[in-house]
Amino acid sequence: MKRVGIIGLGEYLPKKVLTNADLEKMVDTSDEWITTRTGIKERRIAAKNEATSDLAIKAAKEALLDAKLAAIDLELIIVATITPDMFTPSVACYVQHGIGAKNAAAFDVSAACAGFVYALSVASQFISRGTYKNILVIGAEKLSAFTDWEDRNTCVLFGDGAAAAVLSEVEAGGILSTYLGSDGTRADLLNIPGGGSRHPATTQTLEDRLHYLKMEGNEVFKLAVTTMAEAAYMAIKKAGLEPKDIDLVIPHQANVRIIMAMAKKLNFPQEKIYLNIERYGNMSSASTITALCEAVKEGRVKKGDTVLLDAFGAGLVWGAVVIEW
Ligand code: UT7
Repeated sequence: MKRVGIIGLGEYLPKKVLTNADLEKMVDTSDEWITTRTGIKERRIAAKNEATSDLAIKAAKEALLDAKLAAIDLELIIVATITPDMFTPSVACYVQHGIGAKNAAAFDVSAACAGFVYALSVASQFISRGTYKNILVIGAEKLSAFTDWEDRNTCVLFGDGAAAAVLSEVEAGGILSTYLGSDGTRADLLNIPGGGSRHPATTQTLEDRLHYLKMEGNEVFKLAVTTMAEAAYMAIKKAGLEPKDIDLVIPHQANVRIIMAMAKKLNFPQEKIYLNIERYGNMSSASTITALCEAVKEGRVKKGDTVLLDAFGAGLVWGAVVIEW
């Protein structure tokens, strides 16, 4: 088995900033409620003419530059997303064309907020078994296109963005373990019910606002804490480590209270938790990889450090990855 590591990172966040003060003018909410209940201050919103693949392509180009690789060196592109440009073809195919990766296969992974962790786990199998040498893994979302801007329960939570990682064979360190889980019995808690084969688009589904994201926040909150803690613990154990050996935790950025409750369960001190939720809100598949990208840029991850990615999302799904940097 070959060692697999991240050799390049890139991100793209749309320019438009939507603040809590802006949301106060749209729905019955307040900066105080959003800040204390979630930790979010602002989020980015993609332009009307920007689709998920446009965000993904920009992040991909930056990651390739960082990795010092050309697009033609890629053999596979995996995009984690729940907000594709359209049902088919995949966002990964648009990225393949957009960056000129003419030697790459391409597909999407749908695992909601755990999407990047799932995609990273899948990609690492191809490299560790020697099937491929260089793989581009992207988390990209335009959640603003699926957000009900009249529903205060959800519209304050989400944002748009993309980030990418180039995976390659490495000589030392790299991915030490991966752990994934799911529980489809709770699929009803968080979904976008309309527009699929269950409820194909009709004027009625539009009137019923079924094409927007629906969530039972409170129930999801409790499950997020337990499953993120379980995923973190299992991945750390699989790596032969203890929670105290982790230098930096990069959690999915859904709610600062979820993150701190998970941290408490595993005795992670606050200074070992990376947060950027204040600036971007919940970007689903794009959250953990954007946080990793920014943590590295800010010098929070040093060579030899052990980093934990930990995520949870609709499905329900969850997963964690331990990486030696
Ligand atoms: O990414 C993975 C999936 N997503 C998540 O992990 C999100 C998980 N859930 C959460 O983060 C939290 O449950 C929320 C932030 C969504 C909600 O926080 P909460 O502390 O669970 O609040 P709640 O849903 O119990 O609502 C408390 C009150 C309700 O009013 P009443 O019934 O007590 O009168 C809501 O109507 O807060 C009200 N409320 C709001 N008030 C002002 C709900 N949304 C808002 C809002 N502004 N935006």
